[in-house]
Amino acid sequence: MIRVNEHYGLLRSSYLFSTIAKKIDEFQASHPGAHIIRLGIGDVTRALPPSIVAAFHHGVDEMGRDESFRGYGPEQGYGFLREAIAAGDYRSRGVDIEPEEVFISDGAKCDTGNFQELFSTTARVAVPDPVYPVYVDTNVMAGRSGPWADGRYQRLHYLQSTSANGYVPAPPTEEVDLIYLCFPNNPTGATATRDQLEAWVSYAREHRALILFDAAYEAFIRNDDIPHSIYEIAGAKEVAVEFRSFSKTAGFTGTRCAFTVVPRECAVYNEAGQKLALRDLWNRRHTTKFNGVSYPVQRAAAAVYTPEGSREVRGIIDYYLENARLIRERMQSLGYGCVGGYNSPYIWVETGTDSWAFFDRLLTEAQVVCTPGAGFGPCGEGHIRISAFNHRDRVLEALDRISRVLG
Ligand code: MLT
Repeated sequence: MIRVNEHYGLLRSSYLFSTIAKKIDEFQASHPGAHIIRLGIGDVTRALPPSIVAAFHHGVDEMGRDESFRGYGPEQGYGFLREAIAAGDYRSRGVDIEPEEVFISDGAKCDTGNFQELFSTTARVAVPDPVYPVYVDTNVMAGRSGPWADGRYQRLHYLQSTSANGYVPAPPTEEVDLIYLCFPNNPTGATATRDQLEAWVSYAREHRALILFDAAYEAFIRNDDIPHSIYEIAGAKEVAVEFRSFSKTAGFTGTRCAFTVVPRECAVYNEAGQKLALRDLWNRRHTTKFNGVSYPVQRAAAAVYTPEGSREVRGIIDYYLENARLIRERMQSLGYGCVGGYNSPYIWVETGTDSWAFFDRLLTEAQVVCTPGAGFGPCGEGHIRISAFNHRDRVLEALDRISRVLG
């Protein structure tokens, strides 16, 4: 008899963004004339810029000629992209990351979800609250969560992110082994200072813990004093893995390309307390379960690091940041406290009311989609997240509708 993985029975309803998509579909079906504006899931709307499209086309053309055709590529990614990342994202900031420490993949969601399988099921896991649901759900699936009671998984350690700590939690007093951090944060849009990240690195070093640092939104940082990478913190390479993505940086949500950095120094421990190189384990996992991102997509991603590509990509991010500023300022003018929206495409709005009810109100009365804060965890209650990923005219139209409903 084939038995189910009983841990799946512990998952809460469906994946957050699937639940929201279903609600939108139901509303649209019963209101066929409604023109819904989506500021919910963080999905980009601006087209790939010209130099990236040109590189993509060139890659496809190469695949169409016998002399330049490529079959299976290296699972870890082509050298040209790993080198461009090491130089463009790290060495340019004074961080010495080697191309061999960079693993190309098809998404940070997959990588942040899959990475936990390298660790013991007894690992004590710390997750932010509110949190990107993938970190929690994949640990539930793996059996690390314990039962659900009183609105929380009993074996997870929740790092509460509230207005009291500026939405940046400090390391716990308890001992944890695996720590998920995301800055600029999804969903709150909060950023962490160098001092705050130093506290986490020093906690991880002291407890031989590991930080899984999700930096998918680093390209939105505009303040010079905010670190873009956890490796800008001394000593982080031994205790941190970093996830990045081209999705929000370069408009690749539909194109699919991301990467994970696992420094050679980064360690995990066996039963006897001996150090093992995490990079070797991830390499083993990656080569076994993944066959690489397609060649044209990697060529397109590499174009992000050319002078023209980086200028174009920066222009698109500036556009979304301007949307974010407009959203933040309008919500503040309506009397709502906000975090994020600067150095981040997300605006975390304090509504003080039931967040699903607020979501329903904006959907039914303004035909605007946001994300209810409670979907990200108990500390998200009383908040909604508004995403800046849309065209300017739609953002402005959404804000006018919201103002009419709430104003
Ligand atoms: C979000 O809206 O939180 C993100 O788009 C989800 C994701 O990147 O998977």
